[in-house]
Amino acid sequence: MSVSTKSKDRTARAREVLARCDALANFSEETNSLRRTFLSPPMHNCHASITAWLKPLGVSTKLDAAGNLRGIYPGTGAASPRLLVGSHLDTVPNAGKYDGILGVVLAITVLEELDGKRLPFAIEVIGFSEEEGVRFGVPFIGSRALVGRVDEDLLERRDRNGISVREAIQQFGLNDREIGEAILGDDVLGYLEFHIEQGPVLEKLGRQLGVVEAIVGQTRLALRFLGRANHSGTTPMDARQDALAAAAEWMCAVESHARQCPGLVATVGSIEAKPGATNVIPAEVRLSLDVRHRSDEARTRAVRELTGLAETIARKRGLCSQWNPLLEQNTVLLDGFLADQIESAIRNAGCESHRMTSGAGHDAMILAERVPSAMIFLKSPGGISHDPVEAVLPEDVEKAIEAGIRLLDQLASSQDFLERMRRA
Ligand code: HGY
Ligand code: MN
Ligand code: MN
Repeated sequence: MSVSTKSKDRTARAREVLARCDALANFSEETNSLRRTFLSPPMHNCHASITAWLKPLGVSTKLDAAGNLRGIYPGTGAASPRLLVGSHLDTVPNAGKYDGILGVVLAITVLEELDGKRLPFAIEVIGFSEEEGVRFGVPFIGSRALVGRVDEDLLERRDRNGISVREAIQQFGLNDREIGEAILGDDVLGYLEFHIEQGPVLEKLGRQLGVVEAIVGQTRLALRFLGRANHSGTTPMDARQDALAAAAEWMCAVESHARQCPGLVATVGSIEAKPGATNVIPAEVRLSLDVRHRSDEARTRAVRELTGLAETIARKRGLCSQWNPLLEQNTVLLDGFLADQIESAIRNAGCESHRMTSGAGHDAMILAERVPSAMIFLKSPGGISHDPVEAVLPEDVEKAIEAGIRLLDQLASSQDFLERMRRA
């Protein structure tokens, strides 16, 4: 059976994808930049647009209790097993327009390309509510709900305004007691995510699309240096317990440590000094630490060394340091069968493929715990992401749409996939 269609010209489709990403970028918590965090008010507008785009396809949407937007395009059978296709709808602060969003918009576009054709399996489009970890410090809240990993600790975490995850869910009009209903059942065949690469690899190789084999593990921590506030004009330099100076020494140590360890990346991405006045020696500094390596053993060793360095630097300066883990996520291998299928689909779309590891985290790494998961990367011009200059080229979007359609075509006629459906 072929699901290829005559439908709308793919160049026009690709332009429409970019226009939709532009439109969704208007829904922001800030006036002059894009910031859309977990269950923030602009998420309502985002949901309304996506719902409107899905409606003509006969797909009605609902929100699960974790705020994930979900809509099912039925298969040929009354209760066909489902392939999930999507990505996340939240953003980092001062974000680009494509990280996450592009994957949801492409999922809709691939359904549009089906032109009403039904497949032997249903397709559930999913826009995850939270992947970046910006509002509550803990990432992947949306996809964690699908694998049953939203626990009481997570529901009780609080944002900067003292609002808990549970309260955020209620304020958005959802029922936190229904969170268990978001967990995937046995009728899910797999998860597919389109995403920009967010790095330089595909561009350097001159490839438009890539297939992800693995997603590297990451540890996120919150750290504090605790010193002593005092007057900036009267306190001699040798009588200070300056928390910000200690933090600065440690940040430079983090950078040089990571530079010496092949494959390791370590980032201090946020810092806040208190009380935060020009003429007061900082008493307390709060920082974040993000550590990644393909080897879980190398990552956990680096985390031990870096937190140890914080203690040594604090002690030497007469301060103390504390840290709390926010995320401990091991490296995840994605599904080999789906990766092979994606590689063929990319080739069948007329592109050379490239197999790669993702340094960025993705919802697929959480879904992979429960269902076979796969990702298609689109080249990131300039290798830039998590910044407003983040981009994607229309010709790459066009090829991604074509690869998506070919992938569905292949899966619909794959004996292995059909066998998997019989077992679902
Ligand atoms: O931080 C990450 O890896 C992803 O972009 N959320
Ligand atoms: Mn991101
Ligand atoms: Mn992302």
